Amino acid sequence: KAVKIFCPGTIANVSCGFDVLGLCLDSVGDEMIIRKSEIPGIHITKIVGADLPLATQKNVAGVAALAMLKEITYEGGFEIEIYKKIKAGSGIGSSAASAAGAVFGINELLGNPFTNAKLVEFAMQGEALASGAPHADNVAPALMGGATLVRSYTPLDVIGLPTPSELYATVVHPQIEVKTADSRAILKHNVTLKKAIQQWGNVGGFVSGLFLNDYELISRSLEDVIVEPIRSVLIPYFKAVKTASKDAGALGSGISGSGPSIFALSKGAETANEVADAIRKIYEHTEIPFDIHTSKVN
Ligand code: HSE
Repeated sequence: KAVKIFCPGTIANVSCGFDVLGLCLDSVGDEMIIRKSEIPGIHITKIVGADLPLATQKNVAGVAALAMLKEITYEGGFEIEIYKKIKAGSGIGSSAASAAGAVFGINELLGNPFTNAKLVEFAMQGEALASGAPHADNVAPALMGGATLVRSYTPLDVIGLPTPSELYATVVHPQIEVKTADSRAILKHNVTLKKAIQQWGNVGGFVSGLFLNDYELISRSLEDVIVEPIRSVLIPYFKAVKTASKDAGALGSGISGSGPSIFALSKGAETANEVADAIRKIYEHTEIPFDIHTSKVN
């Protein structure tokens, strides 16, 4: 028995919600095939498209799957094939896609004994291996789709949010290396009350905008006064991309996860494609290799 899974890319943080907000992309993602095996344990048999370790303990999919197996009594094992399309270190949840795919697929093969909330917990163990921090803002939207909010980490409380039907994302990946662990290490640990007020106002506004289908409110709330000012210096042409996106009609833009990808949200596919054209023009004039996608948030 086997399952073939689409493991979607995700945008974590979504500007105002560092470590708590995430969006799922429906046209960017990896594929995974998982088979039941008579040999106990987790065996990663094939990885295509990336130079990643096959050793179970060193692979995010392997670690997430092991965390899951620990909680059940199952005599057999699983074989995992991973076909990577999301580049590692791009900022659209490459490690999360693998961790989420592994636990989702194994859960299917076992007849779904675990809830989404448990799957998020297992997949977070993969994230801990990848970035040193077990954050859930990529694995939650990868597993649950749409938009998600991590209301609390201890105890873990993940909320699925509705997404307006015309919400599209444009994501550009300037191919410079930014490691999540490094871009977390440069962050300050203290935030002024003034900035905290702005940030939680925006988180509330963004979530309300999703519920109310209010694109203007979503637009006003796409602001990050805490993390973006620090991380954006690592990303070439960040300001130019932000300005060009807004001029092309985007609702707003920011760093996707820990970068270097930049996302812009738009109302409608047409605007999202115009935003992509505007961003393309910026990087075309540079030496920086890049790729760009538009995707429905779904
Ligand atoms: N919330 C995490 C961070 C996401 O920004 O470090 C990493 O993809």
